[in-house]
Amino acid sequence: MTQIATVILAAGQGTRMRSKLPKVLHPLAGQAMATYPLQVAEKVGSTQTVVVVGHGAEAVKGALRPFGVNFVLQEQQLGTGHALLMARDALDGFTGTLLLLCGDVPLLREETVRALLEQHQRQQATVSVLTANMDNPYGYGRIVRRGDEVVRIVEEKDATPAERELTEINTGIYAFEAPAIFELLENVDRDNAQGEYYLTDSVAAAQAAGLRVGACIVDDPREAMGINDRVQLAEAEAIMRRRINRSLMRSGVTIIDPEATYIDATVEIGTDSVIHPGSSLRGDCNIGSDCSIGPHTVVTDSCLADRVNIKAGCVVSDAKIGSDTDVGPMAHLRPGTVLAGENKIGNFVETKKAEVGFGSKASHLTYLGDCELGKGVNIGCGTITCNYDGVNKHRTVIEDDVFVGSDTQFVAPVTIGRNSLIGAGSTITKDVPADALAITRAEQKNIAGWAKRKRKKLQKSEG
Ligand code: UD1
Ligand code: CA
Repeated sequence: MTQIATVILAAGQGTRMRSKLPKVLHPLAGQAMATYPLQVAEKVGSTQTVVVVGHGAEAVKGALRPFGVNFVLQEQQLGTGHALLMARDALDGFTGTLLLLCGDVPLLREETVRALLEQHQRQQATVSVLTANMDNPYGYGRIVRRGDEVVRIVEEKDATPAERELTEINTGIYAFEAPAIFELLENVDRDNAQGEYYLTDSVAAAQAAGLRVGACIVDDPREAMGINDRVQLAEAEAIMRRRINRSLMRSGVTIIDPEATYIDATVEIGTDSVIHPGSSLRGDCNIGSDCSIGPHTVVTDSCLADRVNIKAGCVVSDAKIGSDTDVGPMAHLRPGTVLAGENKIGNFVETKKAEVGFGSKASHLTYLGDCELGKGVNIGCGTITCNYDGVNKHRTVIEDDVFVGSDTQFVAPVTIGRNSLIGAGSTITKDVPADALAITRAEQKNIAGWAKRKRKKLQKSEG
């Protein structure tokens, strides 16, 4: 089988984004734009990928390095043909089919690239271009055919009025034979409207050398959309979102309003889970079956077991939630929250670095930070772990089956022994032994008639 290598062009500046961030690093459904072509290359069996970087090279390299690709620096952007030539040495004598993708064309699907590669190899072409028919071809290179055969590609700026009428465009995606493509590019000049070395001229060069040129037409031209500004970024985001949501729905997830549900490509969700409108599931999330999320809940980098119900208006980040747990409405689960299962974290409860044992509950208005709760603990309304002394953070440990009365403060570090009971309104500064009652509030005094006398006095001074 023919070997496949990939070159991804990502050296351009992306001026129209008007951004400090290099264009190809702008996120699309949670992942940098350039990671999509990278993943496509891998899926179609490419064994090595070289990314051509230029503007913002260090940032781009930093972001893409984890994908195990190589980089070449194109110091001056002298054109797409020049960019590909830059990758020659990095490919180290590679012989086979060279797939060329662009870092700013993120919607391209694996199936489309497979079709291009199959056609390229079947036709034994040296150059094959992926084309699209567009209602408005303005700005793209046009495909010039003689009969069925593609004879050359002409850029908008170099085209005659008649050529500008052509609606078949160059997507900028190709399959080439290497090393033949490099020999063709060496003879391409920059005698054109933009003074650039055009990769598109490899088509005419192949024709002149008597080598076969192929073309494959993409079904949905939106796939070939290049992102140049933030309007297109939002359009691409909407298309990507639709793809992700459809694929989840087809796999058994209910999404009540897919147009108003924002799920990253990296999120996994089990069957019969329901995602309510306005919810965002971001980053590395793994959500089990029969869960319910939202409306208007944001879950980031978290792991939810089965039958977890996160109600309206919650924010959950870097958390692990065991099965059969109820959260919210309006709860904030911050990083390091680990709920063992069958828990209830109710409204206006905030947790951070909190390990909560099986079946434990904090139903209302509570802060649990830097703490460890055993099994079967009941945290009364308005409980606060005072974890911060202004300099350091300290831990609160509450053992199994403790009952905490409402409006309790735990001034950490403090340990509450199993089966003990904390009286409501207590400020706990010392450890509590198992099975004890701890109570710190002053004893209640009732002063007979005091309120009535006070009221009379006030009325007199007014009158
Ligand atoms: C290019 C094609 C055009 C096609 C269009 C599809 C040429 C000459 N034209 O035009 O036929 O319809 O793409 O989107 O190829 N890049 C580099 N180094 C350079 C120049 C460009 O890495 O020196 C990269 C850019 O970052 C971008 C890609 O190559 O990812 C395309 O470059 P761009 O300048 O956008 O080309 P277009 O003028 O759009
Ligand atoms: Ca472009």
